[in-house]
Amino acid sequence: MKKRILTGDRPSGRLHLGHLVGSLANRVKLQDEYDQFVLIADVQALTDNYENPEKVAGSVRDLVLDYVGAGIDPQKSTIVLQSQIPAIAELTVFYLNMVSLNRVLRNPTVKAEIEQKGFGDSIPAGFAMYPVSQAADITAFEANLVPVGEDQLPMIEQTREIVRKFNNLYGGTLTEPEALLGNYPRLVGLDGKSKMSKSLGNSIYLSDSPEEVNKKVASMFTDPTRLKPTDPGHVEGNPVFIYHEAFNPNKEEVADLKARYKEGKVGDVEVKQKLAVAINNLLEPMRLRREALAGNPEKIEEILRDGIRKGREVSESVLKKVKKAMKIDYEFLS
Ligand code: TRP
Repeated sequence: MKKRILTGDRPSGRLHLGHLVGSLANRVKLQDEYDQFVLIADVQALTDNYENPEKVAGSVRDLVLDYVGAGIDPQKSTIVLQSQIPAIAELTVFYLNMVSLNRVLRNPTVKAEIEQKGFGDSIPAGFAMYPVSQAADITAFEANLVPVGEDQLPMIEQTREIVRKFNNLYGGTLTEPEALLGNYPRLVGLDGKSKMSKSLGNSIYLSDSPEEVNKKVASMFTDPTRLKPTDPGHVEGNPVFIYHEAFNPNKEEVADLKARYKEGKVGDVEVKQKLAVAINNLLEPMRLRREALAGNPEKIEEILRDGIRKGREVSESVLKKVKKAMKIDYEFLS
């Protein structure tokens, strides 16, 4: 039997090239080798967007379109909408007994996010507890492996602790997951800032039109020390060349552009035009798949309903075992 893996995203807007190199492309590969569940974590998204529910709910369909566009095949991967899986909420309540308040607040990932969001003294309890609910996500689907980058390792460690404590107390019930540690490179933004991110307005979206891509690439930051095309330029740390490396499959062309750039024998315009072509070639099949599905809203709903049905099936059997282990499977009710 194939091992089960769980991945997921908080729905908040459309996916961009940073998501593609960061994890999405990897999931498209993983779905052939593993039994993959992809969680649309709308409940988790609400922990820091509870004042903005339209944004969360309104991003669910977009996420399905981006997934399918990028190559996630609903026949191979199960796309699950978190809020429709009641077992996750129930498991979260039980798991809260398995952790101390200090332990969750010490979780490095959560700690960093709390600082970054500037909650001050008013950390929403739901937000602080989201690693516990993530442990419920992972165990509800009996995931063996969770693909993560270095920065998400504390989440998996927290889940493993909860699982071990539960199993020690109540007998072997839950599947202990392992991290499938991958190299998830972070893509710089169009402006050369460390990260492509929606809030920084420096992103190319998977759903951008060819014209939008051309315009965005033309606006990219390059080598700030190079004033004329005849000046020798720097390719290291230059966003345009970072993108060429990431998205242009024509390695000879990239090598040629780099060599000429260093000698001051190519202008930014040519480098950018070739980059825009490469990115548009990469995105074109994704746009076509996306548009085909966007024109068929019933199909989107069917994908969501199928995923919910499968997700409920698995998670309810886990919940049943958990309730039995915790002695709350009262016989007089059966
Ligand atoms: N925390 C992840 C994020 O911020 C989303 C997520 C929720 C997730 N539940 C998960 C990822 C379970 C992997 C497994 O993007």
